[in-house]
Amino acid sequence: MSFANSHEIITNQTGVHEHLVEIVEKHLKHPFQKPIHPRSLEGFKAVEQQVSQLGKPVIFDSCCGVGDSTVNLAKLHPEHFVIGMDKSGHRLNKNECYEQHDVDNFMLLRTDLNDFWRLAVEAQMLPEKHYILYPNPWPKSKHVQRRWHGAAVFPSIIALGGELEMRSNWQLYLQEFAVALEVAGKQGVVEQFEPEQAITPFERKYQASGQALFKLKAAL
Ligand SMILES: C[S@@+](CC[C@H](N)C(=O)[O-])C[C@H]1O[C@@H](n2cnc3c(N)ncnc32)[C@H](O)[C@@H]1O
Repeated sequence: MSFANSHEIITNQTGVHEHLVEIVEKHLKHPFQKPIHPRSLEGFKAVEQQVSQLGKPVIFDSCCGVGDSTVNLAKLHPEHFVIGMDKSGHRLNKNECYEQHDVDNFMLLRTDLNDFWRLAVEAQMLPEKHYILYPNPWPKSKHVQRRWHGAAVFPSIIALGGELEMRSNWQLYLQEFAVALEVAGKQGVVEQFEPEQAITPFERKYQASGQALFKLKAAL
């Protein structure tokens, strides 16, 4: 990732995706049936065991990338156990904070969130706070179902509950997420913000490039 030259999102959409509401309604009606990968189940069981041993409330840092935000959130919330999750082993292995951090109330897990979130709902291992920071935007209209609110797993994000915070440099992504929440009978508030200190590499890069940043908050 090069620094301070990040491009703003380019999309062929002019507003909220024209089929978003029907896509969300379909996913709310029909449970996501894709079989859970055995590796996801194994990873989940290990996390579940650790969480039940610790007995602390949990925070999910979904799509944590290299996990810098996971360490930062662990520092901010010493009474919680923070679980940073990403499907990219390559990114997770780049976490340099491991050696430097002075907190131990976190873990990083390589997993596919399409599986992990469903497993967590099923086991009722629910986060008090859920962060999804700078998810892949998938700005092309035809890729709307790759965005989390257009994905079949969206109902599980809602069922996880807790205080959800998403951040993005693409306001429309969060506006669409808020529309999807509304379809599910929930409410999300989107606003522009300026972080005092960036807590993820993507946030740092967008900030250095002078891009506007947005957050969505929802009490689920
Ligand atoms: C744009 S990066 C943001 C990373 C980090 N939050 C940051 O701000 O620096 C999006 C991340 O989402 C992860 N991701 C995308 N789909 C995923 C999935 N199905 N399960 C787990 N991680 C996923 C990618 O591997 C990538 O690291």
